[in-house]
This record gives sequence, structure tokens and C-alpha cells, in this order.
Amino acid sequence: MTAYRTTSVDATRDLGAAVAGLARTGDLVLLVGDLGAGKTAFTQGFAAALGIDEAITSPTFTLVRTYKGRIVLNHLDVYRLENVNEAEDLAIGELLEAGVTLIEWGDTIAPVLPADYLELRFTLGDGDDDREIKPRIVGPSWSARQRSLAEAMGAWSC
Ligand SMILES: Nc1ncnc2c1ncn2[C@@H]1O[C@H](COP(=O)(O)OP(=O)(O)OP(=O)(O)O)[C@@H](O)[C@H]1O
Ligand SMILES: [Mg+2]
Repeated sequence: MTAYRTTSVDATRDLGAAVAGLARTGDLVLLVGDLGAGKTAFTQGFAAALGIDEAITSPTFTLVRTYKGRIVLNHLDVYRLENVNEAEDLAIGELLEAGVTLIEWGDTIAPVLPADYLELRFTLGDGDDDREIKPRIVGPSWSARQRSLAEAMGAWSC
């Protein structure tokens, strides 16, 4: 799939809002990339587009935060998990049923996740505020929406 580029934190939030337009209960999105790559910024725009007006910060210490918007948003950051076994305590299956779930560093717990998700990999670009975002679809739910996803993200294609 194409790569996408943002040149400001607001643009990454706007990209998150655009992807949120496709979100349904049961969806899983893994946000992957280094510290400061923009995973939380993306989540902020995604949440705002679902009508959530609470401030979104990395849920590092609680691991999971749940917000009520047009649909429920579960926001996880699993950076601090020591190993994949700890992820089993998060009752991911129940979370997934309850809303759309965004997991920062989600690739690290892929073995305990269903093989049905959208992965967005964030990397730093040349300028301080440049970020590249590469989608990767695994499984049927996002495959069926591949074209809509490309349209939603089209404004940032590079
Ligand atoms: N194009 C951009 N997109 C996103 N953030 C940007 C961009 N340009 C600059 N920034 C800055 O980079 C930082 C991104 O922080 P953010 O918390 O979203 O990263 P993160 O990937 O969630 O990191 P962590 O792994 O620590 O949770 C913010 O300080 C933001 O202002
Ligand atoms: Mg973060």
C-alpha cells in the first residue's frame, strides 16, 4: 500500500479523524512506531472525530482507557508490558467486542491479538515535524475497506 506523510501534529490528528470515519465496533488498529512518532496524536484526532471531548493522553500507567463517543473507543498503550503473557490479563477479547480499539505498540502483543487488524506504522521523516505513515492490513475486516481507507487517507499520500 501507499505511504502517507504528515508535516505537523495537527495533520496527524486530521489523519486520525479521517480514519475514524470508517471505524466500527469490533475494529482493531495497531499503532506502531518509535517514541514520539505520533501514535497518541493520531488517537487524539480519531477520538475527536468520534465526538469524544476528553483529553487523550498515553494511557501508559493504566494501560487501557475507555471513552464513550459515537462508538466506544478503547485506547491502550502496551509499551510497559514486560511480556506477551501480561497482555492476556487485559481481556482483549471483551474490549474488542465493546468498541473500536487502538493499541499503541500493538505489534509487540500481536501473538495474543486476532489476526484481523489495521496496522499503521509511524516513522520520523527528514524534518522535525515530518512523519511517514504506512498502513498494513491483516485479515478480512479492513481488507473489505481497503479502498475506503485509501480514499480517507488520500489527502496525505506521498
Ligand atoms: N507530523 C507530526 N505528527 C505527529 N506528531 C508530531 C508531528 N510533528 C511533530 N510532532 C510532535 O511529536 C510528538 C508526537 O507525540 P505522540 O505522543 O503522539 O507520540 P507517540 O508515538 O504516542 O509516542 P509514545 O510511544 O511515547 O507514546 C508530539 O510532541 C508532537 O507535537
Ligand atoms: Mg503515545
